[in-house]
Amino acid sequence: MSSRYHEVYDAWRKDPESFWAEAAREIDWYKPWDKVFDPYAGEYGRWFAGAECNTAWNCLDRHVERGRAKQKALIHDSPVTKTTRAFTYAELRDEVATLGGVLQDIGIGKGDRVVIYMPMIPEAAIAMLACARIGAIHSVVFGGFAAPELATRIDDAKPVAVLSASCGLEPGRIVAYKPLLDGAIELSRHKPRSVLMLQRPQAEASMIAGRDYDWATAVADAKARGRKAGCVSVAATDPLYILYTSGTTGQPKGVVRDNGGHMVALKWTMKNHYGVDPGEAFWAASDVGWVVGHSYIVYAPLLHGCTSILYEGKPVGTPDAGAFWRVIAEHGVSAMFTAPTAFRAIKKEDPKGEFIKRYDLRAFRTLFLAGERADPETIKWAEANLSVPVYDHWWQTETGWPICGNPVGLGALPVKYGSPTVPMPGYDLQVLDAAAKPVKQGETGTLAIKLPLPPACLPTLWNNDARFRSSYLSDFPGYYTTSDAGYIDADGYAYVMARTDDVINVAGHRLSTGQMEEVVAKHKDVAECAVVGVADDMKGQIPAGFIVLNAGVNRPAQEIETEVVKLVREEIGPVAAFKTVMTVKRLPKTRSGKILRGTMRQIADGEEWKMPATIDDPAILDEITGVMKEKGIVKGMV
Ligand code: COA
Ligand code: AMP
Repeated sequence: MSSRYHEVYDAWRKDPESFWAEAAREIDWYKPWDKVFDPYAGEYGRWFAGAECNTAWNCLDRHVERGRAKQKALIHDSPVTKTTRAFTYAELRDEVATLGGVLQDIGIGKGDRVVIYMPMIPEAAIAMLACARIGAIHSVVFGGFAAPELATRIDDAKPVAVLSASCGLEPGRIVAYKPLLDGAIELSRHKPRSVLMLQRPQAEASMIAGRDYDWATAVADAKARGRKAGCVSVAATDPLYILYTSGTTGQPKGVVRDNGGHMVALKWTMKNHYGVDPGEAFWAASDVGWVVGHSYIVYAPLLHGCTSILYEGKPVGTPDAGAFWRVIAEHGVSAMFTAPTAFRAIKKEDPKGEFIKRYDLRAFRTLFLAGERADPETIKWAEANLSVPVYDHWWQTETGWPICGNPVGLGALPVKYGSPTVPMPGYDLQVLDAAAKPVKQGETGTLAIKLPLPPACLPTLWNNDARFRSSYLSDFPGYYTTSDAGYIDADGYAYVMARTDDVINVAGHRLSTGQMEEVVAKHKDVAECAVVGVADDMKGQIPAGFIVLNAGVNRPAQEIETEVVKLVREEIGPVAAFKTVMTVKRLPKTRSGKILRGTMRQIADGEEWKMPATIDDPAILDEITGVMKEKGIVKGMV
């Protein structure tokens, strides 16, 4: 079939407001909008100003009322506990309404913030939807983050309550969440009034009287009383959630998502981008702690009336490299998406795709990859072994849905390896030079989106309009900067090559090297440090730390390196995958004192590099190269 992409993109370009008003017909509104787009509201305008709606209604009640009550809404597939649990739309609606009642009974209401610190269990999705139902604003914190990270988010979001579970299950390791949560609340200046704790049998959490409530008891009590919360009408422009993401400093950015625009854009993507119909099974193998989990485990599949899979396991080791194919076969998944790193992990264990042959994957139509650049080798391996089309697509926590992709529902475009294909309607993507002028076609520059951003993209940062403007809008007036560099070819295909800031992507997880440097610098024996993201065959990138010790420190360097690794694990979390530290005599700098991180990365990655003209002392780069070679992190030279 030939693609309708160009026709649809042009229709959006000609009249964006009519385009989104048409898409908004797919959503139930309590009150229609006064303006599809109000250019004078907010930081760059607001979508569906004046409208009222409820996201949980559109995800659940609407489908129950219109014939999907008995269809599975959510399947929790958990190889780590060897259980599978399914909820129909009616059951999920009831669970959400009951938990909503519990939350209201402990004093949580419209506009209150609720932090959710939970592993990949259905209660995490139920908690998010219960907040949406009562108009509270959730902020989910990924389980792989340590107590200080959680504390930072608690201090910024100032939640009335925290919803958590006693533990997460990593292969071979039980991660007790309660000590981390208690530690975070001790560290934070803001103290949440209540904690609702779900006890999992693998690790019982100790409770603090007067603050902590037992989840199961509270829900059972509400059920016995027939207590259910109704859907609270909120403004389309009210926040649905805050999701913290890495920026260039230790202070994460609180990305705000609204209710109305979010529903409209996400619902549009399910058919038009992912090519999925209501009633089909859709699986995003990610975590509810990341944006992919918010958008494509919880909200979009439910808005569309699909069956969504919530998977508590890994691509390999739970129990083997066939785990993904088992899930696809058992639940009849028609489209899935995950990070390329997951496929690299599978390919390493099962290079010939032997496990794939053991499963019936007839229902499976399309694989989408995101989170990091999909390297052509990984795409080709997946295509050859799965016999389905494989599409890279590019997006960010900030946008909440793909900026570029291959719109399967509109008719797929030819794949060009290394490109996430073309901008979606809503995104006027430009490549700009440092003076904010569009570059010539095919030249590399910063990928920027001409304002306004489309529905579902962040309207601002939580309680911090000034940081929103300085982080995203001031570099290129009239544009949102993605902080990704790349180019667009003659066919309009985008290529996303690298970040322009110090954000790195480790196993599909977004991390900040600047933040890691702040932690490393806290070590008493460290005089100065640099952290750079270096290429890794499996995880895409991994952080590598360089430390210069204080004068007079005479302990073995290795001892200090081990302590630094432990410090990052305790302060940021295991997810930082910070395992390589090198002690060096001095760091390479420019004459004005800037550390040459880019050159260090190029050396480690085995890329061509030029001696920077402004370097203070060229001999330092030889010293550093020697240390990196010793550690075996220089690509092609190990
Ligand atoms: N809670 C606690 N710890 C967690 C965690 C969680 N939710 N998630 C990860 N961790 C820990 C891991 O156990 C590991 O700890 P270790 O250092 O003790 O081994 C560490 O954080 C690093 O985790 P990760 O980078 O995920 O590596 P891994 O070796 O455990 O798994 C992959 C590698 C590729 C299998 C895995 O990263 C993966 O499936 N990635 C897909 C990423 C993804 O879904 N991204 C979202 C965008 S689509
Ligand atoms: P996150 O906010 O965690 O989704 O990370 C967003 C960042 O990940 C982007 O700014 C890119 O740097 C990178 N990224 C995500 N998807 C892709 C992709 N398909 N190709 C290249 N980079 C990607």
